[in-house]
Order: sequence, then C-alpha cells, then structure tokens
Amino acid sequence: MSEATVDLTEEDRRLLEEARAAFASADSEEALEAARVKYLGRKGGLVQQSFERVKAAPPEKRREFGRSANALKREVEKALSEAKAMLESGEGEVAAPFDMTLPGRRAELGHRHVLTQTTELLVDVAATLGFSVFEGPEVETEENNFDMLNIPLEHPSYDPFDTFYIETAPGEPKLVLRSHTSPAQIRSMKEHAPEPLRVVVPGRTYRPDKVDATHYHTFHQLEGLAVDRDITFLDLKYTLDLFAKGVFGEEARTRFRPSYFPFTEPSAEVDVSCPFCERDGGACPVCKATGWLEILGSGMVHPKVLANGGYDAEEFTGFAFGMGIERIAMLRHGIRDIRLFIDPERGNDLRFLEQF
Ligand code: PHE
Repeated sequence: MSEATVDLTEEDRRLLEEARAAFASADSEEALEAARVKYLGRKGGLVQQSFERVKAAPPEKRREFGRSANALKREVEKALSEAKAMLESGEGEVAAPFDMTLPGRRAELGHRHVLTQTTELLVDVAATLGFSVFEGPEVETEENNFDMLNIPLEHPSYDPFDTFYIETAPGEPKLVLRSHTSPAQIRSMKEHAPEPLRVVVPGRTYRPDKVDATHYHTFHQLEGLAVDRDITFLDLKYTLDLFAKGVFGEEARTRFRPSYFPFTEPSAEVDVSCPFCERDGGACPVCKATGWLEILGSGMVHPKVLANGGYDAEEFTGFAFGMGIERIAMLRHGIRDIRLFIDPERGNDLRFLEQF
C-alpha cells in the first residue's frame, strides 16, 4: 500500500482516519457526497487545506509536507471509491442487517363505524331522490318534540317515562333529548316556508327504554320530509319503494299497512320484503316466516303540522317518514343485537366493527 511507502504527517494521518470513517458510515449517496465535499472539496476541503499547509511551511519542511499531502489525497480518493462501490453493491455495515426480502409492515387504517356507513348509504340513496340533508339539535324544546307535531298532552309518549327531560329553571321553556327526529320537520319547514322542501334528517335520538337486543336508550333515526304543491300519497309510495330498493337491492318490494301517528294523516307503516328468506316463507327467524320486515313509519303531513311549519295547508301538502338506522344496519348485515353498536360493555368492540 502506498501508505507504507510514504510517511504521512501526524495531522494528515488523523485526517485520513477521519475521512475513512466518514465514508464508511455514509448510508446513502447524499451522505457520501456530503462527506466527499467535506474532505475532497476543491474549495475549503480538508485535503485541500493540507496542500495549503505545504505552501505555508518553512522551506526545509515543504518536501515532506508535499509528499504527505499527495499521499493523503490518493488515500482519501481510494477510500471514497471503495465506499461508493460498497454502497452500490448494497453490502457494508449499514446495509447488512436490512433484509429487503421480508414483507413490509402494513399500516393499520381505521374505517367508519357501521352506523356511520349505514347513515351515509341512506343519505346517498335519498340524494338520488332529490333530498338534501338537514340537521336538528339533539336537545330539543318540548314544544318541537311534541306540541308542534300535534302530539296531544295525553299521548303516552308525553309521559316523562318515554322521554328524557333536561332540567330547566321554572318558567324557562322545557327541554328534552329528542325522542325522534320529527321535531326537525318543524325546524326545516320554518326555515324553508313558503318554498317547497325535500330533506332528510339523520341523527341521534333518545328514549328511556328498557335495554334489550332490539332497544337501546340512544339510537339513530333518519327522517324524511317533502312539502310542495300537489304532493300525494302516490309520491310517498313511489319514493319509499325506490328508497327501499336503493337500500336493500333492486329485488326488494314494499308493503304499506295503515297506521297512526299524530303528525301524519293518513299514516302507514312500511314493510320491506325479507332479505333473508324467500317470500313464500319457510322458517326464517328474522321475519318470523312472514316474508316481511317493518322498516319505517310514514304518512301525509298533518295540515296542523304544515301550518305550524309556516305553510298554507290549503295550498301545500307533504309526506314524511322516519326509520331507525340501527334497524336498517341490523337487517342489511344480519346483526342480532342492537347493543353491539355503541354499548360501552357489549359493543363498540373492534372484533365486531372490523367486520363491516
Ligand atoms: N317519528 C316517528 C317515530 O319515531 C316515525 C315517523 C316519522 C312517522 C315521520 C311518520 C312520519 O316512530
């Protein structure tokens, strides 16, 4: 080796050591280039400074210093090209412990809760039918939750046992946790009247029900409301049939049964053909072999409710519907217990949620 033939000065030997270490530890082309500039850079490079020292040295030392500087430059250049080769071949200290044949570690991505997914599906289907989203507050006035919807004082759901009341000062308007999304009907009408309107209202609702596999104190509904001139029961039937097909598939059928709600007249409960069995029965446990599943309540908006919303009930008609989002999710995915969604003890478990 040329090192052996030329004696490097103390200073140059140290520099050579240092440069070798720097090149060997460079783990990328950029790092190696930075080290090259530091040692071999034409202006201010450390090897260049060694040549500077030759010029400044006393005459009797110049020869020795000059040889040393030249040898240093050679050796540093050699170390650089070795490091370069090492880096390119993928060998060397840094590259060795990295096994690039191992599979990568996949980053775990979260996804939306199955109830959010269901809500978004319902809202998307409603959008194809011309409905936009309107939102109302979960803490509602007792007036919007009941009175304005024509729910009379003696109605069973007026009972505090069926609705969570919020404590308010005497004389203040009474507040409740809305027991359905229907109070948003009043709010959306007041905002739109006298213009026609078509909205859906997704959101949380609350009832002090005894908790079991199909009841939970906190649940979600999707309300629908259309108000315009000349809206008829046919519009309601047609819209809800298309809605059911959008949610459950083209083969889904609907059935309307007469019902009663204080805020719609006439009213109907709507069933969808059971997605789990053939319509002619068998022993399906989901629809109890009837072939039908109830999914929502609906009807033509009561004239008093239209008037409470600010519409002239002589000129305008409308239809409304309301469905439980948990129920739709349970039917679409075959989920048997409502507590699996958000109950802190029985639900919100990743092993459950990751399936959807
Ligand atoms: N609000 C009713 C309920 O919670 C559902 C409904 C909405 C019925 C709109 C008719 C019209 O049961």
